[in-house]
Amino acid sequence: MKLFENYSLKEFNTFHIDVNAGKFIVVEKITELDELIGPFELSAGKFLILGGGSNILFTKDFDGTILHLSFNQLTEIKSDDNFTYIKAEAGMIWDDLVKYSVDKNLGGIENLAMIPGTVGAAPIQNIGAYGQELKDSLVEVEYFDLTDRKIKTIDNEKCQFGYRDSVFKKSLKNKFIITSVTLRLSKYPVPILNYGTVANELSKSGIDKPTIKDVSSIIRKIRTEKLPDPNHIGNAGSFFKNPVIDENKFESIKEKYPDVPSFRQENKIKIPAAWLIEKSGLKGFRKGNVGTYPNQPLVIVNYGTASGKEILEFAQLIQDTVSEKFQIQLEPEVNVI
Ligand code: FAD
Ligand code: EPU
Repeated sequence: MKLFENYSLKEFNTFHIDVNAGKFIVVEKITELDELIGPFELSAGKFLILGGGSNILFTKDFDGTILHLSFNQLTEIKSDDNFTYIKAEAGMIWDDLVKYSVDKNLGGIENLAMIPGTVGAAPIQNIGAYGQELKDSLVEVEYFDLTDRKIKTIDNEKCQFGYRDSVFKKSLKNKFIITSVTLRLSKYPVPILNYGTVANELSKSGIDKPTIKDVSSIIRKIRTEKLPDPNHIGNAGSFFKNPVIDENKFESIKEKYPDVPSFRQENKIKIPAAWLIEKSGLKGFRKGNVGTYPNQPLVIVNYGTASGKEILEFAQLIQDTVSEKFQIQLEPEVNVI
């Protein structure tokens, strides 16, 4: 364990907001959690787990304790005729896990290549991209329960996964520290090609029988072209979730905009927030040091030294403009602190 006081978080959040944490503790072993948790006030606002800081917006100094988990072991726990089961500890970099599985030709998370952040954060919003979600290969999550200080496991079904959603945002909110995840990866992977952009790029490259390695590489190419690299331009990926609306609402939009893109989700319809923002005239819109990224307006970027408050005000402006034009309230995906 390492303890730092009045510690700058600038390198620990991908918006690169320059705020300080009262205490910043690097937790090196799972067994340290029990002794560490005792002395600290655990209420929200006083205590926070921070992974890679790629889905968080700090709007002020954090006047409490931040735990950053660095344990990152990867273990193959068992293997049968069809699957390999791997357990990855929370501090592991998510993309390292993707590279490991793709290198071994184990299928299940290859479309989630290049998502920044840590393994421990991945179940919270059930990370997803290009037709795949974490829930498709997750077996169970191990977590430290802050209410009784015990390590517990929760299986896939009990995680209540949905689009950018899980039990960790609902009944378990603020009551857990994820310590590891166990995944079931296929030894005979079938590439997932149902996302239009992926299929197009593959056919442009002349690949007709793609492997998961091909799919993962194409996704890395698409992401590099479309999304800003947080090392160069501060951002936290999509700032808002894509809204899921009912049929009537969709029909009323379609009447005016026959080309509105849409994706069916059970008996509802998901429409891209990027499209709503673009149609509201805000694609590439910039105010001072904050803007929507010209290639992907769902991503709000920090062009320089914007504060978290400026970014939040900008996000509010986007929400208000979209709401006025479409009567749809965009919900943040990013955790605002
Ligand atoms: P952090 O930002 O550090 O934390 C996020 C939340 O989880 C916070 O509330 C934090 O307190 C909590 N938390 C973190 N670790 C733990 C833990 N071990 N136990 C308990 N709570 C914890 N997301 C997608 O789903 N799909 C994408 O395609 C995608 N693309 C992105 C592209 C870019 C360029 C960027 C910057 C972000 C993107 N994201 C995407 C969002 C982000 O990468 C994911 O949400 C990621 O899982 C966040 O991981 P993190 O370790 O950085 O979490
Ligand atoms: N679009 C526009 N204008 C644009 C860009 C996009 O109208 O400038 C429309 C197009 O119709 C396009 C559609 O939006 O087909 C979807 O765009 P894209 O493929 O870029 O995906 P997205 O819906 O904007 C979601 C996730 C991303 C994930 C990609 C790929 C959310 C909130 N975002 O973005 O996740 O990488 O799909 O699967 O669901 C993140 O969560 O941080 C993130 C980056």
